[in-house]
Amino acid sequence: MTVSEPVMKGTYRDLVVAVRGLLDGEHDYIANAANLAAYAIDVLPEVNWIGFYFVRNNELVVGPFAGKPACTRIAIGTGVCGTAVAQEKTLVVEDVHQFDGHIACDPLSRSEVVVPLWHGGRIIGVLDVDSPVAGRFDDQDAAGLEALAEVYVSSLAGQWPGPA
Ligand code: SME
Repeated sequence: MTVSEPVMKGTYRDLVVAVRGLLDGEHDYIANAANLAAYAIDVLPEVNWIGFYFVRNNELVVGPFAGKPACTRIAIGTGVCGTAVAQEKTLVVEDVHQFDGHIACDPLSRSEVVVPLWHGGRIIGVLDVDSPVAGRFDDQDAAGLEALAEVYVSSLAGQWPGPA
């Protein structure tokens, strides 16, 4: 392993193991998203919202989450979530006030990570994580949250009931 290679922070290593156990044996996409969010909000420090948006008829619709009520629908290509889908990559936003088009749900949110969920070669949704602290997330958080997103997608065991 080289020094520059991202190393998963201890918190995420433990979280990934715990969530894999929590979701073990269940393949329902709503049940697993709900339990992942409910568990992770208590483990991740300085996080005020964590949850899912799923692609529905070319827009994102909010799924299970922990945190304050969120905007229900986000067009692909708008906001941090829709931009992550359009660009097909994880976005780490140090200061949401500087992100053109950021959609504020909880006004306390200052920084954000959005990880696309890949299933069967396409993006079925995103894992979205907000913090009230600016600059809360770095590349290691992104790597840890990508690993968490993989645990979620793997838990579906190939079953995806949603529309494209
Ligand atoms: N901030 C997101 C909207 C979702 S909330 O953070 C829960 C965005 O700009 O897409």
